Amino acid sequence: MNILSNVDLSTANTLRLPCQAERYVAPGTLSALRAAFVQARQQGWPVTLLGGGSNVLLPERLPGLVVRPALNQWWLAEHQGQVLVYVGAGVNWHRLVMATAAHGLWGIENLALIPGSCGAAPVQNIGAYGVELADTLQAVQVMELTSGRVYWLSAEACAFGYRDSIFKGELASRVVITQLVLRLSRTPAPRLGYGDLAARTPSAPTPLAVAETVCAIRREKLPDPQELANAGSFFKNPLVTDEQVAQLLRQYPAMPHFPQGGGRAKLAAGWLIDQCGLKGMRDGAFGVHQHQALVLVHFGGGDRKGLMRIANYIADRVEARFAVRLELEPRLITP
Ligand code: EPU
Repeated sequence: MNILSNVDLSTANTLRLPCQAERYVAPGTLSALRAAFVQARQQGWPVTLLGGGSNVLLPERLPGLVVRPALNQWWLAEHQGQVLVYVGAGVNWHRLVMATAAHGLWGIENLALIPGSCGAAPVQNIGAYGVELADTLQAVQVMELTSGRVYWLSAEACAFGYRDSIFKGELASRVVITQLVLRLSRTPAPRLGYGDLAARTPSAPTPLAVAETVCAIRREKLPDPQELANAGSFFKNPLVTDEQVAQLLRQYPAMPHFPQGGGRAKLAAGWLIDQCGLKGMRDGAFGVHQHQALVLVHFGGGDRKGLMRIANYIADRVEARFAVRLELEPRLITP
């Protein structure tokens, strides 16, 4: 097994936060993955799981063993118009979206250009443009860290919610996701209800045309992590009660809000931050992106402490004005 020592993870997270892993391994098979967990247990090394690094806030030092699954195969199984896609955890999500869209398959085309690996996608139930991973996910294969046992969870068992799943709760740090099964279809099913997606997509579109429109929209608003370090949305869109919405609407009639049923509604965190006049602000190495207030960017030379300072400042300003506390969207990794 190729365990590396003192590995610099600053280029393995899209925020480019400085981080050194005491040990690092990227197993390419289930048996190599199991062997890594066995060794960690025998040596008493704490294990940290890492995917594409696009939704994590890393500390400066990670003791123990960082494990990044490199299960990079995917394949299709077609039966009576229904297509199941088996995807290894290490496959790049955006590449999978573009490849299945190019095959004429519907289901995940709205999720184009989301950075990260397929194994990380269920953890926060990635979502964009009116579609969530949960809509097409059939099952998730996991390996238990302590026993090395491999088993499957149905989509229902994953307890998906808005940017939430069992992998953030009960199963956090207990299992590693090794494979996904997605249920895609050749029957046209464009979902163009979000924002100006319909207006910008050709009539009778192909999945590839929708994916390309989504890419164009995202490129206008969201910075490319290759050019300007970021982790996508930095805060979740807050869920509030209908009474809170009604109260806020009296003062801010144009406030975007999205009823969720059950007496609750989601607010747009980007709008709240924008209203506080914080779009484009900068504090040292970090700033609020100039085209999308929900994205914090790293200009270089900063660390997690500096990032948390600006994040807290933003959350305080929003709370003081709207009495709503923003929560972090990326995962805070603790050693
Ligand atoms: N808005 C502003 N100013 C801003 C940003 C947004 O006024 O600076 C307003 C917009 O005009 C719109 C509303 O806020 O009325 C919502 O904005 P947008 O459609 O851009 O989406 P979002 O709520 O900011 C969410 C997801 C994104 C996803 C988009 C599109 C979360 C936390 N974010 O953003 O996901 O791409 O919808 O579906 O749910 C991610 O999770 O990393 C991510 C990028």
